[in-house]
Amino acid sequence: MAPVVETVGLTKIYTLDFLDVEYGRLKVRLRPSRRQRVALKDLDLSVEEGEIFGLLGPNGAGKTTTLKILMGIIFPTRGSAKILGRPLGDKWAKANLGFLPENPYFYDYLTGREFLKYYGQLYGIPWRERARRADALLEKVGLRDAANLPLKGYSKGMLQRVGLAQALLNDPRVVILDEPQSGLDPIGRKEIRDLILGLREEGKTVFFSSHILSDAEMVCDRVAILYGGELKNLGKLSDLLSARIKEYEIVVRGIPPAVLEQWRPRADRVLVQKDEAMIIVRRENEAREILSSLQGLGATLVSFNPRRETLEEYFIAQVRGEANA
Ligand SMILES: Nc1ncnc2c1ncn2[C@@H]1O[C@H](COP(=O)(O)OP(=O)(O)OP(=O)(O)O)[C@@H](O)[C@H]1O
Ligand SMILES: [Mg+2]
Repeated sequence: MAPVVETVGLTKIYTLDFLDVEYGRLKVRLRPSRRQRVALKDLDLSVEEGEIFGLLGPNGAGKTTTLKILMGIIFPTRGSAKILGRPLGDKWAKANLGFLPENPYFYDYLTGREFLKYYGQLYGIPWRERARRADALLEKVGLRDAANLPLKGYSKGMLQRVGLAQALLNDPRVVILDEPQSGLDPIGRKEIRDLILGLREEGKTVFFSSHILSDAEMVCDRVAILYGGELKNLGKLSDLLSARIKEYEIVVRGIPPAVLEQWRPRADRVLVQKDEAMIIVRRENEAREILSSLQGLGATLVSFNPRRETLEEYFIAQVRGEANA
């Protein structure tokens, strides 16, 4: 089966306006090479039919750039992409795409229902059908009671949900969402997550961006990790991060604090609280050795956890790596 979204060598170089810099009395116009920013570099990826695919990366990684290229809002400098097997800009493919932009502009004075009907008109949906779809989608995203309320009275979470309803107006096969959970509280995040999971059940393909691990962790079949415009990793999130166990946490009970001191030099950290002690060690063999000595001394094992790296730590490690390079 052909991928639903496929990019090959996708590259975007933004050219900034002339930048005149003054150093005291010296005026410098920066050379063209200094004025270019590589926002996306040789991105190859493919999203399969029916999957929820997460495009993850910190601020400035190139997520929005990628999604805007796919939506035909901006053009790539190099490379190509296909949606539903069709080249970028194809009308039929566009008719099967839904999009929630990063900063959707909302018409404050329209009600939720009017807003959706207005977009339905832009899609060319006949008026009777427009009204029917607007109501069905308001119901689906949990805004039935707010249908006749002006958008200026909507909370951030409600706006994000009406934006999602807008992205679904044309009953698209592929839904592209740019940071659908940004700025939402835990309840709002969960609501959007459940809606995304529901889309997969309907057989839609969802391609969304996020910079927050937990948003992706619970829903994504696969993720791509972008950093500085480059694809750093691709696959199942559990495989990507479990490959990088950061440290081992040993929690034991029944060892006097004075006895614990002997492991302090070998451990990364030793934390004592009431009658429990947590010993954190980086290397697995060292962790196992410490554990067996503790048990030899009569300690009761409470837990032994390999702690895998979080996405946040992964990003931070990338930043440090680049700084040291
Ligand atoms: N119109 C533009 N002109 C110049 N540079 C731009 C433009 N749009 C984006 N960039 C730069 O391209 C890089 C990637 O930006 P992009 O918006 O794609 O990142 P992002 O991953 O979506 O980040 P965020 O999490 O902050 O939304 C950044 O360095 C950004 O400053
Ligand atoms: Mg963005």
